[in-house]
Amino acid sequence: MTDQPIHIKKIGVLTSGGDAPGMNAAIRAVVRAGFYYKLEVYGIYRGYEGMINNDIRKLENKSIAHVLERGGTFLKSARSEEFKTIEGRQKAYDNLKSHGIDALVVIGGDGSLTGAHLFYKEFGIPAVGLPGTIDNDLFGTDLTIGFDTACNTAIEAIDKIRDTATSHDRLFFVEVMGRDAGFIAINAGIGSAAAAILIPEKKFPVEKLIDRLKFREKVKKESNVVIVAEGGKSGGALEISEKVKKILPTYDIKVTILGHLQRGGAPSSFDRILASKLGVSAVEGLLHGKYDVMVGIINNKIVFTPIKRAIVDDKQVDDEDLRIAGILST
Ligand code: F6P
Repeated sequence: MTDQPIHIKKIGVLTSGGDAPGMNAAIRAVVRAGFYYKLEVYGIYRGYEGMINNDIRKLENKSIAHVLERGGTFLKSARSEEFKTIEGRQKAYDNLKSHGIDALVVIGGDGSLTGAHLFYKEFGIPAVGLPGTIDNDLFGTDLTIGFDTACNTAIEAIDKIRDTATSHDRLFFVEVMGRDAGFIAINAGIGSAAAAILIPEKKFPVEKLIDRLKFREKVKKESNVVIVAEGGKSGGALEISEKVKKILPTYDIKVTILGHLQRGGAPSSFDRILASKLGVSAVEGLLHGKYDVMVGIINNKIVFTPIKRAIVDDKQVDDEDLRIAGILST
């Protein structure tokens, strides 16, 4: 994990994959730390696509003015198919070399970190990854950049849905993002008093959901909002709602898919601070010869994990969270 440090003078920073609130704060921290350690910092636009297309520009102090508080990523992002090919990666390497870039900071989710790992193995370009994804599905960090904001956004939206659900005595199924992980669903569900939380990692048979809804009817609960994580084997909110409708035809059921609104908006204070700490630590890690690692935060301490572990090892949902959610929703 710690290699003999090479003399790094120029670093490149990029954001890749799905954008996440706090990515700008992370870029800013990388640039600031780079300048502090007398490095030149290059912005690589549109992730690995920009590396292949030579969309690489030197960043200055003014490039990062007033970006900390903005959602999205000013470096833009993309999911690059071409980088998955050796020819694409060769082009990317040649472009990096033409700018004299010695090392990379890659901000993104598992796909983006996989790219950084491959690139290091094949071309020896040292890279430190930052976990930037709303999904929170990376091993080696308690939380990823953007997750907290996405949960806040989802909860704010669900609060609004609850108002109308209560007024009309309706049952709502709200689908949240997370790809194949249920972290957003669990937090959003606990934080919005969900009647049930359905996640890809755990079975929640329709019969159990029906029992829960009938029980809540009996105890005269005023509204029912069921949170469904996308990516579940039994389908998303629409599919589940249809199954429930068949069994409870008198229920007035509506479905809302929150979708990409969960990816936007100004980062929460938590995400700004997390991104800032990780950004500085990434640069310091590179300077200390920590290559092919992801920098994360565990029990409030900065931790470097080999990228291979971060992408391969499964981050488990916390059974204790699910137990608590179960108590709160009955
Ligand atoms: O990884 C972030 C994420 O928002 C997932 O939650 C979601 O499944 C996916 O990206 C959507 O990707 P796209 O924006 O490419 O449709």
